[in-house]
Amino acid sequence: MEKIVVLASGNGSNFESIVKKTREWKLNIEITALITDNKNAFAVKRAGRLKVPVIILNYRDFASKDEYNRKLLKELKKLSPDLIVLAGYLRILPPFIVNEFKGKIINIHPSLLPAFPGLNAIERAFRAGVKYTGITIHYVDEGVDTGEIIEQRCIRIRGGETLSSLEKRIHRLEHYYYPRVIKDLLTEQSRSDIII
Ligand code: GRF
Repeated sequence: MEKIVVLASGNGSNFESIVKKTREWKLNIEITALITDNKNAFAVKRAGRLKVPVIILNYRDFASKDEYNRKLLKELKKLSPDLIVLAGYLRILPPFIVNEFKGKIINIHPSLLPAFPGLNAIERAFRAGVKYTGITIHYVDEGVDTGEIIEQRCIRIRGGETLSSLEKRIHRLEHYYYPRVIKDLLTEQSRSDIII
């Protein structure tokens, strides 16, 4: 069984789609835990519904960033995951975690990196008036959204598109591709070209 640990800070819709798809596809993959830095994250409720164990490391309860990250490292080591999946995790992983799990941490970002890294990427792309935007799935390194790119998918911004319609389309793309890329990474299949 390949073990995945998901890190999320908020809504958790990607987390949910990963759990559901990997179960639906009956893969040899198990989501062994959701770890969150935010006890109020909606992702925690989703995990309850999906019966995925949750580890809450409420960031505000730690004396320092370093203390928080040391505890996170300890929990990750205990779980010894094959893949750590960031899904709306809003903190930057320190070098001592990135190095410990080199090549085993991935993230999804809602723009075509290297364009629009960081927060509010969908909105920034929309306001910049770009004609194409999309999603990027990449390995995590010590920077912000800078790691090696694994997969990208793009969509055209339509005439009359609103920020909210664009957000919905981007999230649909994320929910479709993130589980598929994870499956391919863990089952070593070559990526078949999938058209949404
Ligand atoms: C997604 O748009 C993802 O690309 C970004 O954070 C958002 C998380 O959404 N990193 P959710 O919590 O999975 O609903």
